[in-house]
Amino acid sequence: MRITVIGCGYLGAVHAACMAELGHEVLGIDVDQAKVDALAAGRAPFFEPGLPELLRSASATGRLRFTTDMSQAADYDAHFIAVGTPQKKGEFAADLSYVDAAVTSLVPHLKPGALVIGKSTVPVGTARRLAGIVEAGAPDAGLAWNPEFLREGFAVEDTLRPDRLVYGVPEGEAGERAKAVLDEIYAVALSNGTPLVVTGYETAELVKVSANAFLATKISFINAIAEVADVTGADVTKIADAIGYDDRIGRKFLNAGLGFGGGCLPKDIRAFQARAGELGADQALTFLREVDEINQRRRVRAVDLTREILDGTLRGKKVAVLGLAFKPNSDDIRDSPALDVAVQLRAQGARVIAYDPEAIVNAKRQHPELDYASSVEEAATDADAVVVLTEWKQFRELDPAAFGELVGAKNILDGRNCLDPEAWRAAGWQYRALGRP
Ligand code: UGA
Repeated sequence: MRITVIGCGYLGAVHAACMAELGHEVLGIDVDQAKVDALAAGRAPFFEPGLPELLRSASATGRLRFTTDMSQAADYDAHFIAVGTPQKKGEFAADLSYVDAAVTSLVPHLKPGALVIGKSTVPVGTARRLAGIVEAGAPDAGLAWNPEFLREGFAVEDTLRPDRLVYGVPEGEAGERAKAVLDEIYAVALSNGTPLVVTGYETAELVKVSANAFLATKISFINAIAEVADVTGADVTKIADAIGYDDRIGRKFLNAGLGFGGGCLPKDIRAFQARAGELGADQALTFLREVDEINQRRRVRAVDLTREILDGTLRGKKVAVLGLAFKPNSDDIRDSPALDVAVQLRAQGARVIAYDPEAIVNAKRQHPELDYASSVEEAATDADAVVVLTEWKQFRELDPAAFGELVGAKNILDGRNCLDPEAWRAAGWQYRALGRP
């Protein structure tokens, strides 16, 4: 198939490269010339394992190109909309201006029979509204909604081998046509037995936000239990292990700690509440407000615990912050709990020196006031406390004895429950964690 991918951020760039890898002819379109230049040169403008290799191999086949020129879309059959839908400033609702701009600038170039395929996470009702815009400007074209479930850090794998496919298509013959196009695009995944759900626009939109709302709820659930564990001396990691053996519950996404961040879960649960409110179903999702609040409390708790291990005051203390990205294997700092804690520690008087294997460039841009180190060792030297805020492998594998030689005082906060308390205590450290005695 001849495919365009409009919006080449974390989602679109990976999608474009993977579609080319699957044998399609792909044109990535983005308004940002620097991003287009980097992608065209085979450089990923952000950190995503496997993406640079894929960009180079796909570009070498001649099947993957990038441009800022929307008019080139005229030669293509299917057009993925993969632009961002960030949270509006000062509101819970999603900002749809990028989606609207992408669709309205694409429509004049659509050839008869072309299919516009939405991938961005949008409030329910958006697809039907956009279908009206497509219909008005290009009556022979169609629109489908095909939500994306990829995780940053595993984006290439998740796109090449998705765990399910969801097509939101219009009723009747137009729906059949849209399904046929999507089946051709995803022929490889379908032939591998990937489960497929074909449904209407609204259901497809709700599948996506429901999935993220469920994941956010699962994380906040275990973090709420961690709060109770903290006041009883129980160990939340053991609770998660034990309840996780019940396969109705499952162990995944029960890692208690600093909670969720990133460009998806936080803004998606807020946009979902805002949309439900507009639709008169706000009561249905009031629990998501609690999910959000539990999540925010984790950050406060991490700062409080750091103060506690420093004998009640952060003022003038040197704190080594390990981790700034919202999760490992990513350089993404959008709504990052780690970065938030680093900033709060500094605001309360600590001398923060932060290290992250990939996220420092992004963190510096947003928070130039923090001090950054170029290695774990540099950050830790003479520190009064070390706080692990993103569970990068490099931090999980630190040797407590050797590491203890560097610091000023052996105090560690394990913000992600990713270290072995016994090993650290045996090496003479004061070890504290969220939800663990
Ligand atoms: C999330 C979903 O997992 C994807 O399925 C979805 O496609 C994506 O959003 C999206 O909407 O685009 P992602 O934001 O990449 O993916 O990150 P997750 O792996 O879901 O992690 C989110 C946050 O939850 C991270 O800050 C992570 O540290 C935290 N987390 C995750 C926990 O605190 N505990 C856990 O047990 C799991």
